[in-house]
Amino acid sequence: MSATDPEARRVNYLRTMGITAWVRRDRVIEDQPVEAKPERQSPSAATPAPGSASTTSSAPPQATPVNELDWASLQAAVAACQLCALSQTRTTTVFGVGAAAADWMVIGEAPGAEEDRRGEPFVGRAGQLLDAMLAGVSQSRSTAYIANVIKCRPPNNRDPSAEEAACCAPYLERQIELIQPRVILAVGRVSAQRLLGQDVPVGRLRGRVHHFGPRNTPLVVTYHPAYLLRRPSEKAKVWRDLLLARSVLEAETG
Ligand code: URA
Repeated sequence: MSATDPEARRVNYLRTMGITAWVRRDRVIEDQPVEAKPERQSPSAATPAPGSASTTSSAPPQATPVNELDWASLQAAVAACQLCALSQTRTTTVFGVGAAAADWMVIGEAPGAEEDRRGEPFVGRAGQLLDAMLAGVSQSRSTAYIANVIKCRPPNNRDPSAEEAACCAPYLERQIELIQPRVILAVGRVSAQRLLGQDVPVGRLRGRVHHFGPRNTPLVVTYHPAYLLRRPSEKAKVWRDLLLARSVLEAETG
């Protein structure tokens, strides 16, 4: 059975996600290596710069609106951001990780303790599960782009406030505009509700294709991996959401 066999991929995915996969006895499926798409472009290093946020020596003399910043200046603006009180308690900002021209953009909620220390999104246990979810659709944290709605850790992992989310929104919108993903995967309630502007539970938002922003980017909602760690029985639904997101890309390329 080959790595491109849909049944083999399904079974491997379910195994990786810790779901019992039933296989007909005449079909033996071995673990398959995950195919990763080549990285298209790495986000460049940060230089402190403006946003409507702050300025530095290498930045233009006047504050540039966030929606006009290039990638490096946007990173620098986030690193220097003091728009809300989360800047007082963070260890470091968490901008995002992945390919700057990714087809898939995964958007979570906010950094947790480990992410706050390391400056990278989804590096804890939930992150390992997210990696497995992405591997199931031949993606990784270097071929996709992973970011959060909120760039600084809310103390005690509380939900971000509406004001904090509003302060961070231009940064995320600019990331999406620069990356121009072909599909967005919104993981969890905070991300889904924020991106769609709907106060509706994830269970009612998932399972269909929404659209986001001026480019009408297809957006699929699914459960947050941290929720899956508590409710592993929901993993099969996440698998269906991932397939839905992948089908959006396949439909586009024919
Ligand atoms: N949960 C999130 O939503 N984002 C992270 O970066 C880590 C955990």
